[in-house]
Amino acid sequence: MCGIMGYVGSRSAPRVLLDGLKRLEYRGYDSSGIALVLDRKLEIRKSEGRLENVEKLVQDDPKKLQKSTCGIGHTRWATHGKPTTQNAHPHQTGHVVLVHNGIIENYSEIKNDLMTRGHLPKSETDSELFGFLVLEAMEEGRDLVHAVRESFVKIRGQCSIVVMSEKEPGLVVGVRNGSPLVVALDPEGGTLFASDSQPLLPFTQDVIFLEHGDVAVATAQGLKILDLDTGNPVQREATHLEWSLEQIDKSGFPHYMLKEIHEQPGALIDTLNGLVDRNGPEPFTLAAQPGVDILKDAKELVLLACGTSWHAALLGKYWLESWAKIPVSVDLASEFRYRNPVIRPGTVVIGISQSGETADTLAVLRELRVKKIPCLGISNVRRSSISRDADAVFYTSAGPEIGVAATKTFVSQLLTLLLFAGYLARERKTRSTSELNRLFEDVVKLPHVIAEGLEPDSEMVRRIDATVNALTPKSTPMSGVRGFFFMGRGHSFPIALEGALKLKEIAYDHAEGYAAGELKHGPIAMLDSEMVVVVLAPKDSWREKTGSNLEEVKARGAKVIGVGDADDHQLSRLCDYWIPLPRESQKIDPDLLPFVLSPVVQLLSYRRAVLKGTDVDKPRNLAKSVTVE
Ligand code: G6P
Repeated sequence: MCGIMGYVGSRSAPRVLLDGLKRLEYRGYDSSGIALVLDRKLEIRKSEGRLENVEKLVQDDPKKLQKSTCGIGHTRWATHGKPTTQNAHPHQTGHVVLVHNGIIENYSEIKNDLMTRGHLPKSETDSELFGFLVLEAMEEGRDLVHAVRESFVKIRGQCSIVVMSEKEPGLVVGVRNGSPLVVALDPEGGTLFASDSQPLLPFTQDVIFLEHGDVAVATAQGLKILDLDTGNPVQREATHLEWSLEQIDKSGFPHYMLKEIHEQPGALIDTLNGLVDRNGPEPFTLAAQPGVDILKDAKELVLLACGTSWHAALLGKYWLESWAKIPVSVDLASEFRYRNPVIRPGTVVIGISQSGETADTLAVLRELRVKKIPCLGISNVRRSSISRDADAVFYTSAGPEIGVAATKTFVSQLLTLLLFAGYLARERKTRSTSELNRLFEDVVKLPHVIAEGLEPDSEMVRRIDATVNALTPKSTPMSGVRGFFFMGRGHSFPIALEGALKLKEIAYDHAEGYAAGELKHGPIAMLDSEMVVVVLAPKDSWREKTGSNLEEVKARGAKVIGVGDADDHQLSRLCDYWIPLPRESQKIDPDLLPFVLSPVVQLLSYRRAVLKGTDVDKPRNLAKSVTVE
C-alpha cells in the first residue's frame, strides 16, 4: 500500500518524483522520501509526516538537487516500524538504495542471517534488509540487475521493489511480484516507474503494467523487461489508458471527495453503458464478456470484500435474492479465508474491490481458484491484480477515485450488483419481462435523481449543511455530541453501516451502523441527549417499522436526524433535523433508494469532517489501496 516512483531520463528527477508521489499519497502518507543520483553519488532526502516536508528539504538544499535526472521515491503506510524519518524510504545500504511496497514475510529469518554476518540494519523495516542482500551479491561480483534478481528469490511475500546503486549510476531496476508496478516510456526519452498509472498520465497515456515476476531495467536510453527467474527478455504490450489528466485533478472542488460525490451520476451512466448492451432485445442484457457465462450458470453466490466494498456486497444480497431468487452469502474476505467455509457445487464467488488490489480479497480468490471454484471480480481499475486472480472481472467505470474514502466507486459497485440481479432474474425467469422493463427504466433514471439531490441549492444539500452546522459549532466542533448511530432496515441497513464507516473514516467520530430492529437489543443503552441517531427511513416496505424504532430512540432523548421521502411529514415532525430525499426519487422503485441515500450519508460525513478540519482526502491512518493482510 505504499507508493513507489522511479525515473531516469533528461528531466529534473526530483520534480518528476515529487509530482508523482503527490498522486500516490492515497496509498500511504505517514512519511516519504526520494533518492537521487547526482554527480554519481546518492543523495537521499526523507522525512516523517507529509510529502511537503520532503519538498521543503529539496527546495532548501544548496546542492542543486534539481539537476539530477535519475531517482526513486516513496510514500509510506507503515507496516513494520513506526512512521519515523528513520523508517521512511528510500533505504540506503552502502552504495545501494531502494524503495519497497508490500511485505517481506521471511523478514525475521533474513534479519537474523544478516546479523550473524555482521550487518546492522538502521531501521525497523523489513524493506531495508533487501538492500543488504543486493549489496552482498554485488560485493561478490554481480552487477545490479543480477544482484537484484538473486536477492528477490531469497524473499517471500508479495511486493514490488525499485533499486539503484552508486556503482551503476543512471540505472533503475524494478521488480514486481504481487504489489502493482507500472512503467512507461517518457516521450521525451527515459523511463518512469510508479505504483499505479495515475502519476504517469501527465507524461503519457501508454503504460506497461508489469506482470508478477517481471524485472524492468531502465536507463535514459531505454527500457528492457526481463523474467525474474531466467533473466530472459520478455515482451509486454503497452496499454492505452482511457483516464485523462483532467479526471485526476480537482476541477475546482475543494476536495477530491466532494468532486467524486458529484461525479456519481456520471459514474453510474458510464458503468451502465460499460456493462449493459443497451441495444439488447431484453432489459438487463449484460454486454458480452467472459464473466457473463460464469454468472449465468451460478446456482449460488458468495460475495467477498472488505470495507466499503463489503457494504456494497451486503446490499447486492438483497437485490440478488429478492429479484433472482438465488442464494447469496456475503463475507469479509479476511474472515472467509481462515474459517474453512463449505462451498457447494455450482457456487460462484465474486470478489469486490474498487482498487482491485486489496490483499485479503485477492488472497481468497487465488486460493479458491486453485480449488477450481469459479471466481469473478468487480473492480474499478482495469489491469489491476484482481484480473489475474479471478476467472473474469466486471469493471465499473467510475473513473479514477483519489479521495481515500470510497464514494463513486461504491455506487458503481451497487449498480453492477443490481445489474447482475436483473440479469439473473431474467435468465431464471423469477421476474416478468414487464417488471424488469419497468425496473430498468428506473435504473436509467437514477443518475438524474442523484444529480437533482446534489444540486448545490437543493433542499437535501441545504438541510445537510444546516444539520451539520448545528451539530458542529465552529468554536467548539467537538462539543455536545458523544457519538453517532446510523440505523436502517432492509436496503437501508447496509447504507447505515456505510454512513457510520464514512463518519469514522474522515471525521474521526465514533459512529456505528445498526439494523434498526437491533437497536433495542443492546445499543439503545447508549442513548442520551449527547448521542445523535441518523434514521434512514425512505418510503419502502420497511418505513413503518423504522418509524417505530425512531420513536424508541426519541424516547431516550437522543438527537434524531431523519432522512426520508420529501412528503413524509409524519416522520419529519418526529425528527430534530430532517433531510428530505430529492422529489424525483418518489418516482423510482423503492428497491433503488439506496442509491439516493448514499450521497446523503457521504455529504453528512464530508461536511462534518470539513467543519472539524480533518484532512478529508487523506484521513489519518488510512490508505486507499490496502495491499497488506
Ligand atoms: C481501504 C479503503 C476503503 C475500502 C477498503 C476496501 O480500507 O480505505 O475505502 O473500502 O480498503 O478496498 P477495495 O479496493 O478492496 O474496495
